[in-house]
Amino acid sequence: MYILSVESSCDETAVAIVENGRKVLADIVSSQTKIHAKFGGVVPELASRNHLLEIIPVIDQALQVAQIDDFQKIDAIAITKGPGLIGALLVGLQAAKSLAYVHQKPLIEVNHLHGHLNAIYLHANDEEARPTPPYPHVCLVVSGGHTAIYLVKSPFEIQTLANTMDDAAGEAFDKVARMLGLGYPGGPVIEKLGKNGNPFAFDFPLPRFKDGRLDLSFSGLKTAVLTAIKKHGKLPEGQDMFNLIASFQRAATEQLVDRTIIATQKAGVKAIVIAGGVACNQVLRDRLAEVCLEKKIELLIPPKKWCTDNGAMIAAAGYWWAEQAIQRGFTQDDLKMNATSTWPLHTIQENN
Ligand code: KG4
Ligand code: ZN
Repeated sequence: MYILSVESSCDETAVAIVENGRKVLADIVSSQTKIHAKFGGVVPELASRNHLLEIIPVIDQALQVAQIDDFQKIDAIAITKGPGLIGALLVGLQAAKSLAYVHQKPLIEVNHLHGHLNAIYLHANDEEARPTPPYPHVCLVVSGGHTAIYLVKSPFEIQTLANTMDDAAGEAFDKVARMLGLGYPGGPVIEKLGKNGNPFAFDFPLPRFKDGRLDLSFSGLKTAVLTAIKKHGKLPEGQDMFNLIASFQRAATEQLVDRTIIATQKAGVKAIVIAGGVACNQVLRDRLAEVCLEKKIELLIPPKKWCTDNGAMIAAAGYWWAEQAIQRGFTQDDLKMNATSTWPLHTIQENN
C-alpha cells in the first residue's frame, strides 16, 4: 500500500511516499531555515508564502524519486491537519485536498505529534526494517514547539505523563543561541560548539516541582544563562562561550533524561522511544542510552533525518487508518477537513 504524505506545519515543506507505513520510497524536505534565520525564528507569514512556492515542486519531486508515473498507484493521502502554524498548515492541506479530489483518493488526517511518535517505524528503501517498539512504551517528544512525555498504550491510546510548563526544549536551545548571537536554529550550533566546552563549568540546577509533578521547565535555565552572560559583563567568546553552551546543553538534556526515566519507572514500562528535532542531539542520545543500559530499559531512536520535521513520519502515522480510509474511498467530506493550530494527542480517535 502506498501513502503519499504532506507536512507543512512549520517551516519545512515536506512530501513523502511510504510503502505499508514503513518503507520510505521518497522523502523530500524543502527547509526554509535560511529564510527565517535572519529573524531569529520562524515568521509565520513568510512560512506560508514559501510553502506556496515549494509545495508543487516538492510533490513532483517525491513522485519522481519514488518512480511513480501514474498517481493511481497511490492508495491514500496523509496530511498534517495540526497542530502548527495555521497559515502554513492550510497550504499543505489545500494541496492534499486538490490531489485527493483530482485523483479520487481518500484523505487521512494526521496529528503532527503523532507523526513524530511514529518516525520510529520508518526505514529507507535499501535498509532492513528496524526493531519496533513494544506497547506500552514511553515516548519523549522534544521539538521546537513541543516537549512532553507520553505513555503510548497503543497507536491510538496516548496518555500525557509530563509536559513543559513554559518553553519547549528546542525553543530553549533556539533562545540561548539567539542570546549569544549564534543564529537560528540553535540546536545544531549549540551541539557543535558545545563539544569544545566543559559541561560542568556552570552548575545549572535541575528544576523540581514541590508537589512532585514530573513536568518540565526550561525558562529558569534560560534565565540562568542570561544571568551568567550579564555577570560576564559582555557576550562571552571563545572558551568562555563554549563552557556556557556545554553547561546549558548538559542541564537541558539531563532534565529530559531525568524526567523520562522517572516517568518510565513510575509507569512500569520497559521501553523508551524519543522523537522530535531535539532528539537529534548526540549528548541527549548518549546520556539516555547510558542510563537506559544501566536501568535495563530498551531505547529506540529514529535516524536523525526522521527526528526533525519530515513527511515520511506523517505517512507512518497515517498508515494506522489507511485500510479504513481506502475501504471508505474518497468522499466529499474529505474536502471539508480543516486545519487546527492546537490538537492534543490524547484526543486521537481509532475510527477516523
Ligand atoms: O521537530 P522539529 O524539526 O520541528 C518542530 O516540530 O518544532 O524541531 C526543531 C527544533 C529546533 O528548536 C531546533 O533547534 C532543535 O529542534 N534541534 C536541536 C538539534 N537539531 C535540531 N536541538 C538540539 N540539538 C540538535 N542537534
Ligand atoms: Zn515537529
